[in-house]
Amino acid sequence: MSGILELVRDDLRGFAGYKSARTEALQGEVWLNANESAWANPADINATSRRYPDPQPAALRGALAALYACDESQLLIGRGSDEAIDLLVRALCNPGTDAVLVTPPVFGMYAVCARLQDAPLLEVPLQETASGLQPDLDAVVRSAREGKAKLVFLCSPSNPAGSALALEDIARVAKALEGQALVVVDEAYGEFSDLPSATTLQATQPNIAVLRTLSKAHALAAARIGVVIADPALIEVLRRCQAPYPVPTPCAELALAGLSQEALAETRRRVETVRTERERLYAALSAMPDVRHVYPSQGNYLLARFSDAESAFRSLLAAGVVVRDQRAAPQLGDALRITVGSSEQNDRVISALQRIEVEA
Ligand SMILES: Cc1ncc(COP(=O)(O)O)c(C=O)c1O
Repeated sequence: MSGILELVRDDLRGFAGYKSARTEALQGEVWLNANESAWANPADINATSRRYPDPQPAALRGALAALYACDESQLLIGRGSDEAIDLLVRALCNPGTDAVLVTPPVFGMYAVCARLQDAPLLEVPLQETASGLQPDLDAVVRSAREGKAKLVFLCSPSNPAGSALALEDIARVAKALEGQALVVVDEAYGEFSDLPSATTLQATQPNIAVLRTLSKAHALAAARIGVVIADPALIEVLRRCQAPYPVPTPCAELALAGLSQEALAETRRRVETVRTERERLYAALSAMPDVRHVYPSQGNYLLARFSDAESAFRSLLAAGVVVRDQRAAPQLGDALRITVGSSEQNDRVISALQRIEVEA
């Protein structure tokens, strides 16, 4: 048995999952095996949606494997990385026993999925350091060992904190937890970061899974295309636990077109724009007296602490700008998270916040 399978729930290792009409390798001309309609819907101009889709559309798999420089056997496409998080928790954690470790304040879906699976949640808070809010990785390893974590979620770049992890730190955690836990590196914002992807560690450290998405830099949030990149044996298990047809054909077609050479070139230009704008917004916010602190960010957002976050939030809303109120998150009682927008949108943020400075 591949070592990674030891991390999978005993009862799911040999689970065959649902055998859909599309998983059977049959040949024919008249397909009457899935109770589909013989005619396309009048709105389906190209008649691409009449039949159930390929569960893992081959062309899109190829394009995503090329994009993330991995083998196709290491990749599972799902409905956003949200689905990958859910699948990982369900496939690895026995309810009531195997824990999920998170480093709050952090993206909330890890805890939601743990709750739905009745997996105990271990929380190792981020720590204030000279380079921003960072996980205490020694404490992560200690807590994972003591609390029997099966999954350790490391968000890099971290949402909302903005900090990213060095590869050697991720490798150290994975090595320390070998045979016990899968370290999941969520790189939803990886395109905006200076640091390389943790996929480069997987050859030597198979207990690392990486999450990527087309929702952020690739501007396809509504298409719901995300991937988990992991050991092929684990991918096989996740695939059998997944819903029968997770990738709708219109979404697969849009995603494939969105990964053409021209589209990728445009995405790269926009990522550069966001990175430049991020620094401009960082400088502008840092200069405002009402802003207590802005965290350096490797993502497409900035986390800022305000002396009066309520006024800042209201002023932005009054100017028609909606940002993420972080005040309910642990350690962030005075913080807002602002997505880096276009240059004009960022100007609007700056002038709305400058207005409160004047009014105060
Ligand atoms: C860190 C992180 N991971 C995953 C996701 C989910 O992304 P997707 O749209 O791929 O489900 C988000 C969405 O905001 C996120 O911030």
